[in-house]
Amino acid sequence: MILKKRPRRLRKNQIVRDLVSETTLDAKKLIMPYFVCEENKVKKEIESMPGIFVNSLEELLQEIESDYLLGVRNMLLFGLPKKKDPQGSGAYAKNGIIQKSIRKIKKEFSEINLIGDVCLCEYTSHGHCGQVDAGGNILNDATLKLLAKVALAQTEAGVDWVAPSDMMDGRVAVIREVLDKKGFVDTGILSYAVKYASAFYGPFRDAADSAPQFGDRSTYQMDFRNSLEAEKEACLDVQEGADIIMVKPALSYLDVIYRVKQKINLPVCAYNVSGSYSMVKTTARQNFIDEKKMVLEILTSIFRAGADLIVSYHTRDVFKNKWF
Ligand code: PBG
Repeated sequence: MILKKRPRRLRKNQIVRDLVSETTLDAKKLIMPYFVCEENKVKKEIESMPGIFVNSLEELLQEIESDYLLGVRNMLLFGLPKKKDPQGSGAYAKNGIIQKSIRKIKKEFSEINLIGDVCLCEYTSHGHCGQVDAGGNILNDATLKLLAKVALAQTEAGVDWVAPSDMMDGRVAVIREVLDKKGFVDTGILSYAVKYASAFYGPFRDAADSAPQFGDRSTYQMDFRNSLEAEKEACLDVQEGADIIMVKPALSYLDVIYRVKQKINLPVCAYNVSGSYSMVKTTARQNFIDEKKMVLEILTSIFRAGADLIVSYHTRDVFKNKWF
């Protein structure tokens, strides 16, 4: 007679289920994104991302304070300049909005871990993440110099980590070199090594007004039909000196997170992007789904796939409602 195997005994009640569960949610592994704009007295909810605001600096400080009191400690900052130009000079200007905000935030909240998004697309008039020539082609190597300037400017202003999200080839090496040369050996690089060209970024681009004015990002962001390329991009960034490897988006790319985690020996971060947040939040507002359950299931699946940390717009809700 064949013995029946009965794994369901391990599911008998909640205590046992918790005991044998393989994935544990930890709010300390979450990073909350913020958008700061250059104007004054702005606190504007992003229409496609209910609960997420574009703030001017004073308002941002209030939001950060209230999140700090809830327990949020890891924060990722995006700057939205008043004026954009082809070089994206606002990204590295000493008194650009992001540098000003970093100085102020770190002065008032020295214990938080502040991460600066290093990219040009929020600052360029054409909306691309790099320099473009007259024919609209992205100039990879010319962009590297600017990205190094952005990373250095943010580091001098006081960020703990820089997070290059532009997808230019070779930028981690260039950033590491300039930071080391200036003595910032302890500033970490969280590299968006594996970033796909994705429709899931839609709401973010509305918020940052950073949709490309011509073409799209397919020449420098990855093709979602591929995953071998993800391993290659991750390995290159490890060699160049990245400290954490980002996979983005997270949902729809759980297999990629898994592959990257198997391949490299660094922490893997996943970015649960604006479009995923928007889908959950807008349907929850209509009472079509149970928001808490859906958020827990999504975040758990991302950790289960292999992510060690997650950037998520749900972070504030997790802390506020003590979901875990
Ligand atoms: C900047 C950047 C983007 C996001 C993070 N950094 C936009 C893009 O690549 O178009 C998207 C984040 C999100 O959708 O939440 N390059």
